[in-house]
Amino acid sequence: MLKRLAGKVRDQFRLSKSGLVNTNNLKDSWKAEDVARQQAELVEKELQDPLSVAPFKTFIDVIKYIIENYDYKVINFLDVGCGVGHYSELLHRYFPGQFLYTGSDFSESMIKIATEQRPHSQFIVDDIFDSRIDFSEYDIVMASALVDVIEDFWSVLDIFFRNSTGLLILHRQRITDKKSYSEVAPGYKGQFTYATYLNMHELEDRLSACDLYIKERFNVADGIYSFLIDKKKVNS
Ligand SMILES: C[S@@+](CC[C@H](N)C(=O)[O-])C[C@H]1O[C@@H](n2cnc3c(N)ncnc32)[C@H](O)[C@@H]1O
Repeated sequence: MLKRLAGKVRDQFRLSKSGLVNTNNLKDSWKAEDVARQQAELVEKELQDPLSVAPFKTFIDVIKYIIENYDYKVINFLDVGCGVGHYSELLHRYFPGQFLYTGSDFSESMIKIATEQRPHSQFIVDDIFDSRIDFSEYDIVMASALVDVIEDFWSVLDIFFRNSTGLLILHRQRITDKKSYSEVAPGYKGQFTYATYLNMHELEDRLSACDLYIKERFNVADGIYSFLIDKKKVNS
C-alpha cells in the first residue's frame, strides 16, 4: 500500500532544472488564457522583424524549398498545434495567394486569438489525440514545436506518420545523440511543459516503418532542426 502510494507520488512529481514539478495536468497548461496571451504578445513583437527570428526564417526557407522542388498550384496547409496562428501570418505575407491555411489547436484560448487576429486564415479547436481532421485533405501538414511539448512524443509522431498522405514538416525539433526522451521544462511565465529530444536513428527507423523519409533537413539553431518528410517512392 505504502509502496504503491510512493510510486504514485514519484509518477506525479518530476524533477526539472527548476526543482520538483507536479506533472498533474501539465499538458493542459497550454489551454490557459494567460499562456495564450503571453504567446500572442511574444509573436506580435517577433512578427515585426520575422527574418531575425530563427524558426520563422527557417520556416520561410522550408516553404521556398517546397515551392522550388514540388509542383503545387495552391497549397492546402494544415498547421497542427498552431497556437495563435503566427505561421499563417508568415504564409500570408511572404507567399500571398499561394496557400489555403488551416490551423488547429486544442486550446480554445489560442484559437480565439488566432481567429480574431488573422481573418485571412481558418482555425479550429482540435486535439490531435482525438482529432476530427482528415489529413488527406491537405498537401502539407506541419507540427511546429508541438511534438516538443508532448510527453508521449512517439504516440503523436505515429499519428502524423500513419496519417500522412502528402508532405510533413516537423518544425523546430530538438535532436539528441542519446535515446529519445522528454523532460519537464519551463514554458511561459508561470507554466511548466515538456521538452522532447529525438534521436535521429530512432526517428528515421520510425519514419521508414511508415514508408516515409527525410527529404531535407534545415538547421534552426544549435541542436534544433526542421525536417521535410515525404513518402518513399515505390519502385514499379
Ligand atoms: C510550443 S507551442 C507551439 C506553437 C506554434 N506551433 C509555434 O511553433 O510557435 C505548442 C502548441 O501546441 C498546442 N498543443 C499541445 N498539445 C496539443 C494537442 N494534444 N492537440 C493540439 N494542440 C496541442 C498548444 O496548445 C500550443 O499552442
